[in-house]
Amino acid sequence: MGIRWEQLMAARAASIHSSFNVPFDEMPSHPDLIPFTGGTPSPEFLPIQHLRDANRRAWNVEPEAMYYGDTGGFPPLLERITERMAKRGVSVSVDEVLVTSGAQQGLDLISRAFLDPGDTVIVEAPTYFGALQVFDMFQAQYQSVEMDEHGMIPESLEAALNSAERPKFIYTIPTYQNPTGVTIPVERRTQILQIAGRYNVPLVEDDPYGELWFGTSGTNPLRSLGDDILYLGTFSKTIVPAIRMGWMCAPPELIETFRTAKEATDISSDRIVQRMVVEATNDGWLDRHLDKARVNYAERFGRMSAALERHMPDGVTWTVPTGGFFVWVTLPDGADSLALLPHAMQDGALYLPGSIFYVDQRPSPSFRLGFTTLPMDRYEEGIERLGTSLRREIG
Ligand SMILES: Cc1ncc(COP(=O)(O)O)c(C=O)c1O
Repeated sequence: MGIRWEQLMAARAASIHSSFNVPFDEMPSHPDLIPFTGGTPSPEFLPIQHLRDANRRAWNVEPEAMYYGDTGGFPPLLERITERMAKRGVSVSVDEVLVTSGAQQGLDLISRAFLDPGDTVIVEAPTYFGALQVFDMFQAQYQSVEMDEHGMIPESLEAALNSAERPKFIYTIPTYQNPTGVTIPVERRTQILQIAGRYNVPLVEDDPYGELWFGTSGTNPLRSLGDDILYLGTFSKTIVPAIRMGWMCAPPELIETFRTAKEATDISSDRIVQRMVVEATNDGWLDRHLDKARVNYAERFGRMSAALERHMPDGVTWTVPTGGFFVWVTLPDGADSLALLPHAMQDGALYLPGSIFYVDQRPSPSFRLGFTTLPMDRYEEGIERLGTSLRREIG
């Protein structure tokens, strides 16, 4: 008889779960499914050759770089990050930045430092399921803040803060949110900061999409308006997710705690990849790359939006993002996007059902469409298929 592993597991292991749970594999599917599920840069903006060259240069290192080090981050990379933050109105010194293994590690480090079992995290409804996956592991409970087309609603935030037991932070994706694509306007940002300040609860700003505006300029981070904000950035959406390079901005005394927690977790992020990011982003390459990507993503959204106009049944609405990767489509009241998904899959279009983005997994008439990863000629066909499916199922 072997070890009874389940009897040895920590209580917290019961809270370890996959990022979302939709049994796609068990649903009958069209042979040539068009997936609107992607949340990554488009295939033509995966700069493989550029990264290969940067990587070759990154290997021009002293033997010392082969040892352990750089727990807080490779200093030239920290400099590069502070320069990019400054361009978006955030003035931080290198002592206020920690390189992380993606924004996801930032969420983990913040949770380690702040969450005891039963503490409350205030989240947007809907929100990024990968954040809930982390907070759940630390046995958080939640208060949800309702959103409209301008992001989290201040009155709902105030109500959540009022009823929260031991609220530790407010988790927000204020710019081109995942999953809705909406951005909180500046006046509302100020209101939110005032409310949070009154309750003495900090914000965690997760900003993976903030540099991916359509048009000529975007919205500066919430962090440009206040200091009591833990900021998470990443190169996953602006370069590629495979490199697992992100960062956190926090007050220096907290950075020290997070640095030590990171040391205990993984000692440091990959020292060569950190050098590669510096090499890859030399001489303004990233800005030139993003300028092209922004035009491309705006065109993609344009195609999706035109196709939605043509093919969605009456009564269906959707958000109009000004950047990022996602549109949030809402069906008439009473429709359940999860129940409709098998039909859509059979008809040849795949979306992410709304319920997976809520802490209570509530039945949702909404779903997320990602518009960056498909071949340009598939938007029309995919949305037409979806429209046909929805029209048949909801009338
Ligand atoms: C809101 C949000 N936060 C964090 C992440 C994870 O980012 P990273 O690849 O930097 O860990 C994602 C990825 O989709 C995301 O959408």
